[in-house]
Amino acid sequence: MNKKINENIFFVGALDKERMLFDELIPTPDGTTYNSYIIKGSEKTALMDTVDPTKVNDLINNLKELKIKNIDYIITHHAEQDHSGSIPKMLELFPKAVVVTNEKCKTLLIDLLHISEDKFKIIDDGDRISLGNKTLEFIFAPWVHWPETFLTYLKEDKILFSCDLFGSHLAFDELMTKGDTNVYNSAKRYYAEIMMPFSKHVIKHLERISIYDIELIAPSHGPVYEKPNFIIDAYKDWTSDIVKNKVMIIYVSMHGSTKKMVDYLAKSIQKKNIGVTVFNLVKADLGEIAMTLVDYATLVVASPTVLGGAHPFVVSTSYVINALKPKTKYLSIIGSSGWSGKPLERFSETLCHVKAELLPFVFIKGMPNEEDYIKLNQLAEEIENKHNELYAKKLLSGVN
Ligand code: FEO
Repeated sequence: MNKKINENIFFVGALDKERMLFDELIPTPDGTTYNSYIIKGSEKTALMDTVDPTKVNDLINNLKELKIKNIDYIITHHAEQDHSGSIPKMLELFPKAVVVTNEKCKTLLIDLLHISEDKFKIIDDGDRISLGNKTLEFIFAPWVHWPETFLTYLKEDKILFSCDLFGSHLAFDELMTKGDTNVYNSAKRYYAEIMMPFSKHVIKHLERISIYDIELIAPSHGPVYEKPNFIIDAYKDWTSDIVKNKVMIIYVSMHGSTKKMVDYLAKSIQKKNIGVTVFNLVKADLGEIAMTLVDYATLVVASPTVLGGAHPFVVSTSYVINALKPKTKYLSIIGSSGWSGKPLERFSETLCHVKAELLPFVFIKGMPNEEDYIKLNQLAEEIENKHNELYAKKLLSGVN
């Protein structure tokens, strides 16, 4: 793989094709990368972030390959250990290097990695550091996705080092991408899992970076974007108020009653030319669920009652959905109980951060009967009416 990004700028990070889970939670079917870059200026050399400590040898070997004898600055955009975890080893190998970061990140790095206080050079928003013929300008971008995060703009080369923002969990074969479906889907999955809860902050940061002339975006995960608008436009789309004319249904069914409800409701909605995606939580990929949440108009959660409440798989997935704060506009809960439906009625509280309008719930006893199917038809009609309202307000895409 060609590791050169531009004149005297190289990828020195690590690919992690085997990593199948991130945060021990969300599947990463395409692995991931920990991107670290070296910038050799005429006077100084900067290392842009490090790598996950499990891959520190890859970083060391890449630096050796480039015959890097000296590092002046370790620019640390973010304290999370997948980027900072190899700083202690770098400081051991390059004892003259200083960690360049902001005050908040410094505190976190001392807590997380016990880096010595005298190893830091603190920068502020808008500050610049010269490497001789190359200038680094720092852009604070808190909450994408930690409070200390910042980005760096390399002025002469017009490269934005964007940290986790615009990243993707994709252990690439080619470092540079012009953008394709595979990259788009990986970036969307990443946005859904990491950035979606902070979409309001992302919108502000997109506005802020719009004043920069950017030719390349080099994130901390996944390939480098040769066409910055590919990913910037995707982010504008995902953070906008527009949703798709689609309904997502997540469900668990123990004895088939809830599944019958889901199948019937899905068909009823499809007859209205509204797209439906159904996830059986027993086997669903949480990353796909997150991606789907990015732009679907409506979410329906379906559960049986078990152990005195909604099914634990529904509870745990809903907990994650709640934390992801999707822009879902409408929410309904349906389900079937053996002897008590009360636990399902209280279940909507689990999704309190999903600022969606609640549509009628449909809770039944046992197998659905004719009366229950009528209620599900009514729910489908209500979804259609609500989607039509969104369409009238120009907030719905994908209407035939
Ligand atoms: Fe890739 Fe927030 O670390």
